[in-house]
Amino acid sequence: MSQTQQKTPPGPQNKLPLGIDHLLSVMKDPLAHMMRISRYGDVVYYAVGRGKRKIDVYHFFHPDYVREVLVTSQRFYDKGESIDHLKELLGEGLLTSSGEFHLRQRRLAQPAFHKKRIAAFGDIMTGYANRMIDGWQDGATLDMAEEMKELTLEIVVKSLFDSDLDQTDHALKEALNNLNDWAERILLPPNLARLLGKLPLPATTRFKKARQVLNSKMDRLIAERRASGADHGDLLSMLLQATDEEGDKTGMSNLQVRHEILTMFLAGHETTSLALMWTWYLLSQNPAAAQKLHAELDSVLAGRAPTVEDLPRLPYTEKVFMESMRLFPPSYATSRYTVAEQQVGGYTIPAGSRIILSQYVSHRDPRYFTDPEKFDPDRWTPEFRASLPKFAYWPFGGGPRLCIGEPFAWMEGALLIATIARRCEFRLLPGHPVETRPQVTLRARYGMKMIVSRRKVAAEKVPAQAVS
Ligand code: HEM
Repeated sequence: MSQTQQKTPPGPQNKLPLGIDHLLSVMKDPLAHMMRISRYGDVVYYAVGRGKRKIDVYHFFHPDYVREVLVTSQRFYDKGESIDHLKELLGEGLLTSSGEFHLRQRRLAQPAFHKKRIAAFGDIMTGYANRMIDGWQDGATLDMAEEMKELTLEIVVKSLFDSDLDQTDHALKEALNNLNDWAERILLPPNLARLLGKLPLPATTRFKKARQVLNSKMDRLIAERRASGADHGDLLSMLLQATDEEGDKTGMSNLQVRHEILTMFLAGHETTSLALMWTWYLLSQNPAAAQKLHAELDSVLAGRAPTVEDLPRLPYTEKVFMESMRLFPPSYATSRYTVAEQQVGGYTIPAGSRIILSQYVSHRDPRYFTDPEKFDPDRWTPEFRASLPKFAYWPFGGGPRLCIGEPFAWMEGALLIATIARRCEFRLLPGHPVETRPQVTLRARYGMKMIVSRRKVAAEKVPAQAVS
């Protein structure tokens, strides 16, 4: 082994015993923590704890090293303990399972996400969006965090499970809200999160109740579909009928189907809803971009509602979504554990180390993005995209764990932006504080209170939309 491979990467010194200061810094503001840490270099190291409980933490910031973890050497980087917290809710679903089992589940679910199949969901997306807009009063104050959450939830449930959400389902809404405090524990070291999960704390009790509500809702969905025996051609039917032809030729138990659909239910709405919420915020702060978006929609759509076929003719709409996920990537960081010693950037990374990668930091790297804090959809020219190294921009992850819903999310994001921005514009409620709240996903601490105005010219030509 060469001498360069033995040296320790740069990183912040411990100011408190056991590196507690790093932990406190993460808890206080993980985004600021990672941005600060990134100034040390492309590979940064610090340790938390001592003896057997010591955790070696490495942050990799260079796109090549992100690719190394997610693609090239992915078999040496396991999700490990980092997902134990999520497993308490999602069991062994796609997001949380690993190895052969994960590959099998991925094979079974993948056909539901083929581009052609997804294109058929376009009318569901625009239909629900138009119905939501119809319910907005001109000049009303809306919490766009809540509005977008409700919309994307309805869409994912209809598209993947062919089921309608009951608008008055307070138990479901409460269950989703009650996951909040529990979700924040993702920032803690796994053993601490596990310990808290065993204590009778109010957040733990709320989490357990929420889990019960969600499980029983998913179980009912499965039981109804099994009883009807009907093939709806959606993800749920596909999972219930699936047998693993390439593998052991068996199907999935009800419990496994529940883990999968709960994963899709949660992973499939929260992320997209946040991307949209941050988009409305960014557009409200950048009137020139909003104007350009409206001009594109008015000229291409000429007063009618958008469809999937319009998307290739709405490049600026796509750029807005892309730039919004650059600045506020809903999945802002991901972590892995090394299962064997690795060499990265000239450093030896021991087995059992915790590796942290961050989209939030990658997307602000001034080596690849000029004026990185600026919201500039126009930066996404074809030439710029071609020149960007792989994993300089990676909102959907990569490699075998690439987001299965990526094509769904791109289509949904662009279609909902087009549908909503064609008819409405939003300004931030004066005085409303905007602050990030990174949990499992990148939320806004105080929601996003905005005032909606109907765009007069376009609104006159809105055709009546029916949601089936
Ligand atoms: C803007 C929207 C979305 C973003 C930013 C996003 C982001 C991500 C990321 C970064 C991962 C990889 C996590 C890791 O490597 O640790 C992931 C995985 C996943 N996402 Fe998404 N996602 C979005 C939408 C969706 C949608 C719409 C669905 C389903 C309908 C979905 C379902 C999943 C699932 C099941 C996985 C686990 C895949 C696997 O490990 O095989 N996501 N997502």
